[in-house]
Amino acid sequence: MKFFGSAKIFTVLLLLLPAARPAVLHAPRRNPPVNVPGRPFPTNVPGRPIPTSSIPTSSSPTTTSSPTGPSATTEVQRGQTGTLMVLPTQLAAAGLKQIPGKFVAHVIPLALNDAPDPAHPFIAPRPGDQRGPCPAMNTLANHGYISRNGITTFEEVTNGMMEAFNMELHFAAGLAALNFVTRGNTFVNKISIGGVSPLVPPLPGNIDGPVTGGIAKHGRFEGDASISRADAAIGDNRNFQEKVYDLDLVQLSKFGDNGPDGNNTVLNVKTLVEMEKALFNADQTADRQFSFPARRMFAAYGQAAFLMTVFANGTTNQTTLPILNSFFRNETFPPNWFRAASPITGATNAKISSQIAAAIPTLPGRNNAKGVYIADPAPPAPFNSSLPCAGYFDQAANTPSVLQNTTGIFKQNVDLMTGILFGGASANPGCTQFAPPSGPTGV
Ligand code: HEM
Repeated sequence: MKFFGSAKIFTVLLLLLPAARPAVLHAPRRNPPVNVPGRPFPTNVPGRPIPTSSIPTSSSPTTTSSPTGPSATTEVQRGQTGTLMVLPTQLAAAGLKQIPGKFVAHVIPLALNDAPDPAHPFIAPRPGDQRGPCPAMNTLANHGYISRNGITTFEEVTNGMMEAFNMELHFAAGLAALNFVTRGNTFVNKISIGGVSPLVPPLPGNIDGPVTGGIAKHGRFEGDASISRADAAIGDNRNFQEKVYDLDLVQLSKFGDNGPDGNNTVLNVKTLVEMEKALFNADQTADRQFSFPARRMFAAYGQAAFLMTVFANGTTNQTTLPILNSFFRNETFPPNWFRAASPITGATNAKISSQIAAAIPTLPGRNNAKGVYIADPAPPAPFNSSLPCAGYFDQAANTPSVLQNTTGIFKQNVDLMTGILFGGASANPGCTQFAPPSGPTGV
């Protein structure tokens, strides 16, 4: 593949990403591919009326005003009430902050100043609450930064990532958008951070099958060689797996830096590289159906980088063994943990993920029937210009094409999501073409 021809060029490309725009997670737009360099992020306007002529299969939209919040535009389609999604605004106060927060001294007696934030205590999930393969989402839900039942909206999850992890707005929105178009209901604006839930209906008219999968459903985004979950074909891809996580800890004990918790207990890039190699090798051998296409390679390296960017304690910029254990095993914020001192952008994360990619020569690919790993064909230009761009193209090819046939609020929401994703992908030089959702439905 062209972009793998020179690891050095690839690294340089990723480092060039503008700080204010998301570098990751790739995906599509509903229109036929066109070149729109520098296209601004779309913004749905709450309360904006939708012309009824553009909604042939649904009833007229209704704009409802709430006395406590912005007006929400809703629309009924096949028994479901759709809601216009809106890109939140970047947090104004986005500096170092202890998470969960603390009582404010002047509001309550000093003696209680160290007591934990009453709004965000850890509460273990209750029966029926959804949890899934993402340690960050599970932690947000366990602390009430998103709904504790594990069913969230685009705005809630984007705001939760900004507040608790100091993710930059567009980066956070891109991660949410990617999961919404692949495994959420983009009409009613709901997604499960676990599996199928009665609270997230199938898309109107069951256009993507009789259920909405939730982010744990394998195939579109969730994939193989995870840090702490098994491959779906051979085990539990949703819940924490000690055996898989142990592979990571072995690498940390060999390559980690020394720190306050002992020798080889602080994460560094070398450890992440060795971790990714070990996870790949173990699953490629054990899982006959192993697959590591461009979208998964890009996501996997990005998620490994999160361990050093998002999970690091903002006061030390270090991710230690106890911090890793807290997020992965207990799905709770570590004691005395502070979010990053400044918003984490796609470029921040790409500084680490590009080093991982540059250090591992493996091409995107999959096992054949004999269990031999074969590289995938390169994507067409310009999607072969970088791993993020190839991942974007591949993700679009695995996002249901029926999203292109939507109308009214549903269409506006799809356009918002796919526009955000293209905004992220096009931050990579040369990645100038939209890729519309063109994948199979019901998978
Ligand atoms: C603060 C932002 C986020 C961080 C730090 C984060 C972190 C991570 C990490 C470290 C993993 C790897 C887990 C493993 O391989 O065992 C992961 C996996 C995953 N995350 Fe997140 N995540 C974030 C946002 C999101 C959002 C917004 C969603 C969806 C709503 C999401 C969905 C997923 C899914 C589906 C996986 C499974 C991927 C796989 O292993 O196949 N993540 N995330």
